Amino acid sequence: MPEILEDIRVLDLTHVWFGPFCTMMLAELGAEVIKVEPPWGTIGRLGPGALFKGVSSTFYALNVNKKDISIDLKSPEGLAIFKELVKKSDVVVQNFTPGTMERLGLGYDVLKSLNPRIIYAALSGFGQTGPYSKLASYAVIAEAISGHTYATGKNHDINGPPINMAGAMGDLGPAMFAAFSIVAAIRHRDRTGVGQMIDVNQVECMVAFNTCATTAYSLFKETSWEMRKKRPRDPSRIWGIFKVKDGWIQIAGERPKAIDKLREKLGVDEVNREMVEKIVAEKTRKEAFEFLADVGMPVAPIYDAHESMTDPHLVARGTFVQVEHPAAGTYTVPNFPVRFSETPGRVTHAAPMLGQHTEEILTNLLGYTREQVEKLEKAGTIVCYRG
Ligand SMILES: CC(C)(COP(=O)(O)OP(=O)(O)OC[C@H]1O[C@@H](n2cnc3c(N)ncnc32)[C@H](O)[C@@H]1OP(=O)(O)O)[C@@H](O)C(=O)NCCC(=O)NCCS
Repeated sequence: MPEILEDIRVLDLTHVWFGPFCTMMLAELGAEVIKVEPPWGTIGRLGPGALFKGVSSTFYALNVNKKDISIDLKSPEGLAIFKELVKKSDVVVQNFTPGTMERLGLGYDVLKSLNPRIIYAALSGFGQTGPYSKLASYAVIAEAISGHTYATGKNHDINGPPINMAGAMGDLGPAMFAAFSIVAAIRHRDRTGVGQMIDVNQVECMVAFNTCATTAYSLFKETSWEMRKKRPRDPSRIWGIFKVKDGWIQIAGERPKAIDKLREKLGVDEVNREMVEKIVAEKTRKEAFEFLADVGMPVAPIYDAHESMTDPHLVARGTFVQVEHPAAGTYTVPNFPVRFSETPGRVTHAAPMLGQHTEEILTNLLGYTREQVEKLEKAGTIVCYRG
């Protein structure tokens, strides 16, 4: 079956989580994503995340479907190779601190002069301009300044301190904005022949995810926490985390149809949180889930991530796939989560070894001879993985 981005080549200079998750989405939709790493490897190979066979587990997760070329961009020969690749590519993505690409001699003006059709996505913490633009960033930084850390704490305990969000949403959310914007820019490029630069930053994307809170404040001139203190939530509503015999379940009980069915099932006139708490406390997580799902209640077992991997619904949908890695062996990752009827996205192969495709790309794409490759390898300009 055709892949929707199969004619798109992406030069991927990204590291850690934010950039790699963006380019992985493009790779899972069929783009040829060439990860460009320095000969000493990207910092993302070492963390965050525990090392498995010398490489961070997050690197295995965030780089599936990618090819890998290892070149020293600080050497004139390495820089020349990258420039040749730009001429033969559609997209360049990086998430360095602003100014790094310019110091390498790879600012947008240079990329554009090499290939006017190029789409250049410059990912950063705070954006390419503005007082904080030069600051380095990680997910928690963007989550903090956009209101999410405060909200997570207040949501847990209205009088308590801020709490960090789990799951690096300050990386993965903005990465989706980046991937989506790159695809939109490809559409524009294909219609007009004109490439462009995209400035995607973690902070403004996270602010965008907080649109309901900022809009509410502009309407009410009060924070949601001030409003909640004045008008506390109805303690009898069937909403939130409930303890069961062997764990917890999540109930979002604002569905009148389901509440009516639950009343019928229990033979009572009214149901409230206390009653549901007592009922589910006597059940296992599976029993409580099935009992409430049966009346159409929005309900889910609360899992640790590894438990999702064996959930019968997700198993039936084929949510996870296995990939084979030269050093790590077989491992499991989520497949591309969106289903297309004509051009499915999918995970086809594991994250690459450092320089796994250097020789292939230099010879097949750029026409280098084996002797030229060996000379560059000896000089330390490139690394070729040789199994
Ligand atoms: C993540 C971050 C904090 C890491 O900081 P850092 O390790 O100091 O990295 P920088 O991005 O500042 O610079 C990367 C360096 O590697 C060098 N480099 C990268 N690829 C290279 C290559 N193939 N060959 C040679 N050098 C290379 C760059 O030239 C730069 O060197 P310099 O500092 O001498 O200019 C920073 O990149 C950042 O804030 N990025 C934007 C926000 C972001 O995406 N955060 C990560 C969220 S997961």
